Amino acid sequence: MKSTIISMTVAAGLMAAGSVLAAEVPAASEKFHCTTCHSVTEKKIGPSWMDISKFYNGKMEKSPTGKTLGQVTAGESSEVYLLAKVSKGGYGVWGKQPMIANDDVFHQPSTAKQADLKELIQFVMGLAK
Ligand code: HEC
Repeated sequence: MKSTIISMTVAAGLMAAGSVLAAEVPAASEKFHCTTCHSVTEKKIGPSWMDISKFYNGKMEKSPTGKTLGQVTAGESSEVYLLAKVSKGGYGVWGKQPMIANDDVFHQPSTAKQADLKELIQFVMGLAK
C-alpha cells in the first residue's frame, strides 16, 4: 500500500514536470510545427528534445546510431551545428527518419526564421544543462 502511494506520488510529480516543460516551449515552435514530430520528454517521429539536449550537452556517450558528439558536430559548437541541421533538415544521428528543412538555406535563409530557430535551439540546449 505504502509503495502504491509512493509510486502514485512520483507519477504525479513527473506529470507535473512534463506539463511545466510543455508550457515553456517557445511559441515559435508552432510556426514550424516542430511539435508534430517532437515532444520535450517523449520520442515521436523525431527524438525527444530532452534526449537531444543530453547528447549535445555531452551527457550521452553515443547517439542511437552510434555517433559521438565530436563525430556529429565536427568541431563546431553544438548550437552552430544544430542551427544548420534544423534549418536544412537531415537524418542519421538518431535514425533513418529524416527531419524536413525548416528554413530555405539553399536559396534564401530568412533572418526572422533563423532568429526563431536559434531561440528554439537554445531552449532545447537548456533542458539538460
Ligand atoms: C517532419 C518531422 C520533424 C519536424 C517538423 C521537425 N523535426 Fe526535428 N527532427 C526530426 C527527426 C526525424 C530528427 C532526427 C534526425 C537525425 O536522426 O539526424 C530530428 C532532429 C532534431 C534535432 C537534433 C538534430 C541532430 O542532428 O541531432 C533538433 C535540435 C531538432 N530536431 C529540432 C527541431 C525543431 C526546433 C523543429 C522546428 C523548427 C523541428 N525539429 C522540426 C523530425 C522533425
